[in-house]
Amino acid sequence: MSRGTFVTFEGGEGAGKSTVVPKIAKDLEEKGYETLVSREPGGVASAEQIRAILLGDQEQILDEYTEVLLFAAARRQHLVEKIIPALEAGKVVLCDRYLDSSLAYQGYASGVDMEQVKMINMFAVQHWLPERTIFLDLPVEIGLSRITKNAREENRLDQAGIDFHERVREGYQLLAKEDPERYRIVQANQSMEQVEKAVLQYIQEVLG
Ligand SMILES: Nc1ncnc2c1ncn2[C@@H]1O[C@H](COP(=O)(O)OP(=O)(O)OP(=O)(O)O)[C@@H](O)[C@H]1O
Ligand SMILES: [Mg+2]
Repeated sequence: MSRGTFVTFEGGEGAGKSTVVPKIAKDLEEKGYETLVSREPGGVASAEQIRAILLGDQEQILDEYTEVLLFAAARRQHLVEKIIPALEAGKVVLCDRYLDSSLAYQGYASGVDMEQVKMINMFAVQHWLPERTIFLDLPVEIGLSRITKNAREENRLDQAGIDFHERVREGYQLLAKEDPERYRIVQANQSMEQVEKAVLQYIQEVLG
């Protein structure tokens, strides 16, 4: 049993995950919680190398099962090296993407069989599921326009069609519905301050 609290952030591109996570960490630190912020895929050296294979080369076409396995492998290593030790030390772990990203992107949007994606990912994480998953929900066009507007470096996934991103969003909405205990949906089309406030409230529900 870990003493910490595991929180993950999910949502499509441009939803605001990477923007809100450090703000929440600061809020929690101010309230006296020790936090660890990390992101997927990556977060530790070997997983960053896998990330480079997954998101780096725009020309490279990966088999869809290979992609599921690589995400799961990076997830496992990151979990073991970074997340579990922090939870065992009693920290609040805030992770930008986790297994639900695979379920929404590979299992729902890309059309690899959802049950198989779940099986591979449950093998990778064993019983280490987050206590809370914050889904930042945002219309696809808004998310994508935020990214282009701010000229964030485009990766391979950004170039997939808008239909793909619509399916990702639908996938998350279904996952949230299936697991209302763990999931909380935050409307991401609000000011950053409003998003931050909603997220913080939902996390405080699970802090002892
Ligand atoms: N509530 C908000 N209102 C307006 N702009 C926002 C808001 N939240 C984030 N942004 C801006 O939108 C852009 C994308 O945000 P961010 O990088 O946090 O998204 P993300 O969910 O991490 O996306 P990705 O999945 O691509 O990493 C950033 O430039 C950020 O400043
Ligand atoms: Mg991000």
